[in-house]
Amino acid sequence: MRLNVELLGKKFDNPLLPASGPSVGSLHALRFFNESKIGGVVTKTISIEGADVKKPCIVANDKMVFNTELWSEKPLEEWVDNILPQLKKEMKKPLIVCAGYTASDFKKSIPLLDEYADFFEVSTHYGKDNLASLVSSICNLTDKPVFIKLSPHISDYLGFIEEALRAGAKGIVAINSLGPGVVLDLKNRSVAIGTEDGYSWVSGPAIKPVALQRIMDIRRHYPDLPLIACGGVSSAKDVLDFVLAGADLVQMLSSALIDGRQLYDKIVNDLPDEMDKYGIESILQLRNESLLLKPFGDGSYPVIDTEKCILCNRCVKICPEMAMENEGEIVNREDRCIRCGLCESRCPVDAIKGVISCID
Ligand SMILES: Cc1cc2nc3c(=O)[nH]c(=O)nc-3n(C[C@H](O)[C@H](O)[C@H](O)COP(=O)(O)O)c2cc1C
Repeated sequence: MRLNVELLGKKFDNPLLPASGPSVGSLHALRFFNESKIGGVVTKTISIEGADVKKPCIVANDKMVFNTELWSEKPLEEWVDNILPQLKKEMKKPLIVCAGYTASDFKKSIPLLDEYADFFEVSTHYGKDNLASLVSSICNLTDKPVFIKLSPHISDYLGFIEEALRAGAKGIVAINSLGPGVVLDLKNRSVAIGTEDGYSWVSGPAIKPVALQRIMDIRRHYPDLPLIACGGVSSAKDVLDFVLAGADLVQMLSSALIDGRQLYDKIVNDLPDEMDKYGIESILQLRNESLLLKPFGDGSYPVIDTEKCILCNRCVKICPEMAMENEGEIVNREDRCIRCGLCESRCPVDAIKGVISCID
């Protein structure tokens, strides 16, 4: 089972990386990732001044994280005088340095950060204005590949990418957090966290389909573009989904904020078995496979395998047309069934086939 990835001349033992954020904002946190099993390390976005972040700034539930963070609270000096020189002595894997946000910031920061970066990553969360001059301002200051990070609220994302590549970017990271959104504290009749307008940014498993769509579409338009996926990863299967959609590397943050940082090594450990389950020999093979843009199943009526069925009644409860009935065994009423596929997707024991899959 080959997990390794080579991208722009750098070797990654596997495709999983942390995403920029609080988990990669200090020397001790970066050391954790350097010692872990993941393929590479990424820093929090470094600007000239440390960010002044109003607290509270991060809350989560099982599926989502809401945050109002800005960039690293540590100023550039602390990164270049202390954190990065120390890390460089210990570094075991490629390092992506995230830098922000303006051309004048880059003029000062990039020459100082350059020796530590294998790649640069630049967040464009705050808009597309002056994108070309922003991208060329950083590309003119370094020979290292520059990845531009796409925010999901940029609707003309292919136009955005075209402009970034023309200005010198070598790759794309997609996506940043979704939103803005709002999370409420009902008891206190307030927002739980928020900036001056009460808004926060949304990330975690709930945003995975949006990230997956961006990666799939970008890959369709740019077959050879170095592409790093980010958004909603929480399992080895999610990593494989993103690679199939076209990602070279895959970043994760929020699921580790929800469940703990041991999730990174767990995902790397789980990858070989998950690949085996789906007949995948290598990450590279999956990355180069073509993705069918048509569902595999043909939307026939569901067929229930009564041997496998555990009579949990989930399909009976959820069928929107009330077509599934428990008559001692589960029976589908074809006069009601609209062949939507919901029952098959929600069966906990894989006892329903025929709508979204073929019957084997
Ligand atoms: C608390 C928090 C802080 C973040 N800080 C940064 C940052 O400094 N720079 C950046 O480019 N993205 C930042 N992000 C966005 C993440 O890197 C990532 O793009 C987004 O959360 C989606 O991935 P996920 O669902 O795996 O978290 C932050 C996200 C969160 C939740």
